[in-house]
Amino acid sequence: MAEGFDRRRFIKACAGIGAAGAAAAAGIGMLRPLTDMDVEIIPIDYPGIHVLRGSPAPYGLPLIPLEITGDGEMRGVPDAFEDQLQWYRYCGHERTPGAQPDWGDDDLLRYHVTAEQRAGLDSWYAPAIDEVIQWEDMPENTPEAIFRDYPGVGAPFRWRSEGQPPEETLTGILLRAPVDELEFTEGILPDREEELLEWMPEHPDDPDSRLMACLSICTHFCCVARFHEDRLAEQSGWGDKIFCTCHLSRYEPFLIDQYHRTIFRYPDEVPEETPEPQPA
Ligand code: FES
Repeated sequence: MAEGFDRRRFIKACAGIGAAGAAAAAGIGMLRPLTDMDVEIIPIDYPGIHVLRGSPAPYGLPLIPLEITGDGEMRGVPDAFEDQLQWYRYCGHERTPGAQPDWGDDDLLRYHVTAEQRAGLDSWYAPAIDEVIQWEDMPENTPEAIFRDYPGVGAPFRWRSEGQPPEETLTGILLRAPVDELEFTEGILPDREEELLEWMPEHPDDPDSRLMACLSICTHFCCVARFHEDRLAEQSGWGDKIFCTCHLSRYEPFLIDQYHRTIFRYPDEVPEETPEPQPA
């Protein structure tokens, strides 16, 4: 926890704020009416994919600890750390069902792109959209020619979001990381490094690769960042980065950093009706 920060602080806010980020990412307007309420401000620490200096995004992309199931499926581990699910409660996902401990479905990663991206999608994983990701699916490097010379490969997925609308979907990127590219900043203490490596299972066929995952919701204005997908990234000299086309944020895919930020906790019950105007 950040030093000198009073853990329990409240502000007056509008219910609409919480919905704004997710709604914007989904390409729709703000859906909830504005309603005054008390919102708790909570400081959190989390390990994330390093955001590059000069990017508009202020924070890294939070890691999702992984394991490989007995059936070879990639599964996120939502309770690898106490209250880990808080890391994913930003950009309007404070109340997203998949970010709550009582999510009732599985924790498997499924290939995912938006409805708009499906049309004409020709990436290596295109035939498997909506299927559970198996470790053996991941090639060593991205097959598409313009990204072939950059290290590693990524697959976009959704997690803890089956049956949810776009604005309540947690999206991420599964990476196959060459071990010699994987680094930790000085913000990660050595014993923490050991713990984080446990969240990145070794590739069963290749001890020189690890599988790792992060949320892909850009910490700037909540667009979905991608890896080895956008021609603009390559043309801009950032073809080897996780890249957000909305305002050009770049994340170093295999560099893990420690982040400190605040999230909001909304009351359990939020009135859905806009209050009647009061007489002056
Ligand atoms: S850079 Fe602005 S939303 Fe990603």
